[in-house]
Amino acid sequence: MPTWKTLFDQHPEVPAEKLRWWLSDYLGVSLTMLPLHSVPSPVELAAFEAAAARLKLGEPVQYVCGKAPFWDFEVYVTPEVLIPRPETEQLVQLALEVAVSAGKKVLDVGTGSGCIAIALKRACPKCVVSGVDVSEAALAVARENALRLGVEVGFHSGDLLDAEADRSLDVLVANLPYIGESEREDLHREVRDFEPALALFSGTDGTDLVVRLLDEARRVLKNQGKIVLETGESQGHVYASAAERFGWRLENRSDLAGRPRFWILERAHV
Ligand SMILES: C[S@@+](CC[C@H](N)C(=O)[O-])C[C@H]1O[C@@H](n2cnc3c(N)ncnc32)[C@H](O)[C@@H]1O
Repeated sequence: MPTWKTLFDQHPEVPAEKLRWWLSDYLGVSLTMLPLHSVPSPVELAAFEAAAARLKLGEPVQYVCGKAPFWDFEVYVTPEVLIPRPETEQLVQLALEVAVSAGKKVLDVGTGSGCIAIALKRACPKCVVSGVDVSEAALAVARENALRLGVEVGFHSGDLLDAEADRSLDVLVANLPYIGESEREDLHREVRDFEPALALFSGTDGTDLVVRLLDEARRVLKNQGKIVLETGESQGHVYASAAERFGWRLENRSDLAGRPRFWILERAHV
């Protein structure tokens, strides 16, 4: 009878770290405690073969396991939502530092799995946090996450800010799609073939949705309101000119690798 280790060796086309990640999640044990020399039961063997077949096609391990780590919790993910990225935790951190505090009404625009909205609510329970997305499938995942984690975050459907009332919000936080259609072929296959296109692409150069957001935000934000954004690293000139056009003062922050990927905006003239 094959051990887990033998099974791993029988699938050299799947990176061993992905098989280890899957097994650790499946058995609920840490990566350092994997029982690699024990023999799986027939049920475990069937689960392994099903997972290995998906991983072999290049499907991200987070979709195969149905979860991904984010902030101080785990989010449930399906192929209908972007897998939360570690950089986005920096967006949450920044929003908490510069804009989100008790009593503020906060909207996560393009909420996907709901990871940003849920992290903000966990970190700042006295905020009123909601999330909006154009994808009903993503909203179902976000609602399931809020339910599982027991946080009070409302999720609703909308195309950017079209569902929001005038002057109703204090803070907009967004990690909207920012990849250009022209970059599609350069993307890693795991991303291009498995993550939802709706969560990735935003016009030819990737800036369309954020520029639209800067325009529409003028209507829904209160006077002292702020926008905190994560974007692509070489798009600053586009946002600087849009900010000037729409009357926003723009401040840039870099990610841990020094790339200018985060933005804080507030009204230039209140
Ligand atoms: C890059 S993903 C980010 C998901 C999540 N906020 C995160 O950080 O992991 C962008 C999200 O924006 C949503 N989206 C795309 N176009 C939109 C639009 N016009 N209005 C609202 N949401 C939109 C997508 O469905 C997707 O869930």
